[in-house]
Amino acid sequence: MGIVLDKDMDESRQGEAISMDNKEGGKKLYLESYGCAMNFSDSEVVASILINQGFSTTQESAEADVILINTCSIRENAEQRIRNRLKQFNRAKKQRPGLVIGILGCMAERLKTNLLEEEKLVDLVAGPDSYRDLPGLIEEVDGGQKAVNVLLSRDETYADISPVRLDKNGVTGFVSITRGCDNMCSFCVVPFTRGRERSRDPHTIVQECGALFNAGYREVTLLGQNVDSYRWNMTSKGEIKDETKPTTNFAQLLEMVAAVHPKLRIRFSTSHPKDMTDDVLHAIAKHDNICNYIHLPVQSGNSDVLKKMNRGYTREWYMNRIEAINRIIPECGISTDIITGFCGETEEQHQDTLSIMREVKYDAAYMYKYSERPKTLAERKYEDDIPEEVKQKRLEQIIELQHTHSLAINKEQIGKVLEVLAETESKRSSDRLMGRTDRNHKVIFDRKNANVGDYVMVRITDCTHASLSGEIVED
Ligand code: 5AD
Ligand code: SF4
Repeated sequence: MGIVLDKDMDESRQGEAISMDNKEGGKKLYLESYGCAMNFSDSEVVASILINQGFSTTQESAEADVILINTCSIRENAEQRIRNRLKQFNRAKKQRPGLVIGILGCMAERLKTNLLEEEKLVDLVAGPDSYRDLPGLIEEVDGGQKAVNVLLSRDETYADISPVRLDKNGVTGFVSITRGCDNMCSFCVVPFTRGRERSRDPHTIVQECGALFNAGYREVTLLGQNVDSYRWNMTSKGEIKDETKPTTNFAQLLEMVAAVHPKLRIRFSTSHPKDMTDDVLHAIAKHDNICNYIHLPVQSGNSDVLKKMNRGYTREWYMNRIEAINRIIPECGISTDIITGFCGETEEQHQDTLSIMREVKYDAAYMYKYSERPKTLAERKYEDDIPEEVKQKRLEQIIELQHTHSLAINKEQIGKVLEVLAETESKRSSDRLMGRTDRNHKVIFDRKNANVGDYVMVRITDCTHASLSGEIVED
């Protein structure tokens, strides 16, 4: 199975083919992933399910019997790109009539039978909670039927499935801890495509992290749409479900994972400002191996806009959380997501977003123009009335400001000696390695005797707004 990633939501690893060692026998499968880290993680579950059914893998879509695309619906342009890709595969299918083309993930869930019956772009549609059914669905298509499963589940977490690791480096891996989202931010399609929020059994999470460490991994990122609402054996109102068993919240889960091994770094994403407790911050401060880095999406710096976005916090509440981070975890890296040009956003409200950025000084930000999504609260209630040129201009101002902040923070790192986990060889030269600091700053350095997977001390000598460079300090 060739795996192609396109992490639209938070990084841009585009068109990357991932090699795997399972290349012999069975039907050949090619899998391509778009969107967020959660989709990437789900593709590892899909790979595991199909390899267990005897599928083999290819990196070449041209030699595949089955092509699956794991898709993203977060913004309109993400969906458009995927449609174009499906059209390409359909042209190839004209020469290979037996080829099965399937769509997975958020777009499958959102459009249901549409891509199959009306647009006629796929033979198979599988939503995020139906991956166990994939072998059966592929069989149905082979038998001449169209196959669809878009049922959302209240309890599927794929907890018992050991994901096949698709990341190339063998050092950093994703571990899902919750699925779905109950927040209903008014701009967001995720609650409709990924269903109700549910948490995964903490013991399976700890077990998976332990297995990763034993396989040579040195960093795990715990994934959920809102990690702070992780809860085990508790209802959403905080009532205990089974009195005879312990309960676990996110702060406690962090402590459990931190105990796996002191040399296993822990990151997590995404934190929600309305739910992030001081207990979580104290857990981070207490454990050296929980990274001092928090991704805390603000979306807007104006309380009225935040209310319309249904985010559940005000600007003041958000700043209180930032102050708590700075008090409890000095030198903590903070990044954010920002949406510009949301329905009715005035110039003053846009200025509030710029001013909260100046107050917080984020290490990094993922910045987007508002894209109206069908069925969301905002689509039903508000008009998408900010002209494209205004959205574009505001986005450019936000990006420019962020670059000045990222550069200033990076410059502050020059002269420091920082511990870096080497993740990969640098894109330009195998003599150089790329790694990250605890605070999630990317560092490029001459490898000397170091290998991927090593922790090294690096003296920072230079930077851009996007990365640091430096030299290994010998001890
Ligand atoms: N338009 C633009 N950006 C969006 N996001 C979510 N929905 C939309 C939308 N409709 C952004 C938010 C979220 C990130 C993952 O994607 O900033 O935090
Ligand atoms: Fe979407 Fe809000 Fe849930 Fe994030 S927390 S997935 S932005 S609804």
